[in-house]
Amino acid sequence: MLTATLRAADRLLHVEFGDGEALDFPFLWLRDNCPSGFHPQTAEREFDLTQAPRAPRVSDARVEGDALVLDWAEDGHVSRFPEAWLRAVAPGRRRLDPAAVPPTLWHGPLGDALPRADAAALLTSDAALLDWAVATKRCGVSIVQGLADDAEAGLDVARRLGFLRETNFGRHFDVESKPDPNNLAYTSHRLPPHTDLPNQEMPPGWQFLHCLANEAQGGGSEFLDGFAAAEALRGEDAEAFRLLSETTIPFRFHDAGFDIRKRAPVIELDEAGALVEIRFNAHIADVLDLPPASVEPWYRAYRRLMEITRDPARLTTLRLGAGDMAAFDNRRILHGREAFDPTTGYRRLRGGYVDRGEVDSRIRVLSRG
Ligand code: OGA
Ligand code: ZN
Repeated sequence: MLTATLRAADRLLHVEFGDGEALDFPFLWLRDNCPSGFHPQTAEREFDLTQAPRAPRVSDARVEGDALVLDWAEDGHVSRFPEAWLRAVAPGRRRLDPAAVPPTLWHGPLGDALPRADAAALLTSDAALLDWAVATKRCGVSIVQGLADDAEAGLDVARRLGFLRETNFGRHFDVESKPDPNNLAYTSHRLPPHTDLPNQEMPPGWQFLHCLANEAQGGGSEFLDGFAAAEALRGEDAEAFRLLSETTIPFRFHDAGFDIRKRAPVIELDEAGALVEIRFNAHIADVLDLPPASVEPWYRAYRRLMEITRDPARLTTLRLGAGDMAAFDNRRILHGREAFDPTTGYRRLRGGYVDRGEVDSRIRVLSRG
């Protein structure tokens, strides 16, 4: 049985539910979220807060069936709130989110814990797609196997999750040793573990690297959990962690056609101090512009994090073969590759990105009952 008590002095409604749970609903919140203020088809809010009293008052609250019904003092408007809805979205409570998959941090080789999925299943089965997306979010990285020998095949899988994120490198990019490279990835050099494009206002979220050929000597792939590396730093040196999460530094990519810059911290946290993102790419960290007194402490912290990311014991190493694709959260997982010898064979990966928000939306839609 639902009971609702007006607490006019506190400008809120105190509701006790049948199972004993009690929740408070400020009047102002109830007025702004009255279901009648939302368009019936689009479900978007049409209610205009500026047209409402600053401190609206409720003249009567009563329970009718499984709904709470309120009369508003100022204009006589009647609001009707379903009980289940009130409980799901009560102030202070985050809406249930199927895409809020907590990361499982890993500090060493994933081995059999590395999720794997079959390309044909991902292209044809929504259930397989959802399982894979959730597993990849949890672990940060996965391998898709059995892709067709077609440069679009990996992107077709990526597009099952959302729109491709176009960048200055195009809708997709081909990683191969090129004669006039504008990016170290387009050489045959080793790429130590890094995140792509931290110089972007919002770095691309999920990255897909579809291997079309890997016949050269070398060219193995490396993955490392950047969140785990950051947590290791937080555990051993809280001051270094603080410096890297509070100090913004410049990142920059520039070539003949672009000059894309962003100031951001290496470690980004949310309000609760949880990890949101790692920006880690020495190649496109711009010249450090901190004041002289801050230079040594910042470098000391950065170097320590870099040393953690260079620890071979933290790496998941594998060799992508033609038809394999690595999928990973580029804002969490660092990826790298061994040097390769382009005179011994051909190596080509096709890459693309889909932003985190696209994938989260897809997970939510696929999770609908
Ligand atoms: C890249 C990259 C990895 C590889 O293109 O940014 O990291 O295996 N490539 O070539
Ligand atoms: Zn890269």
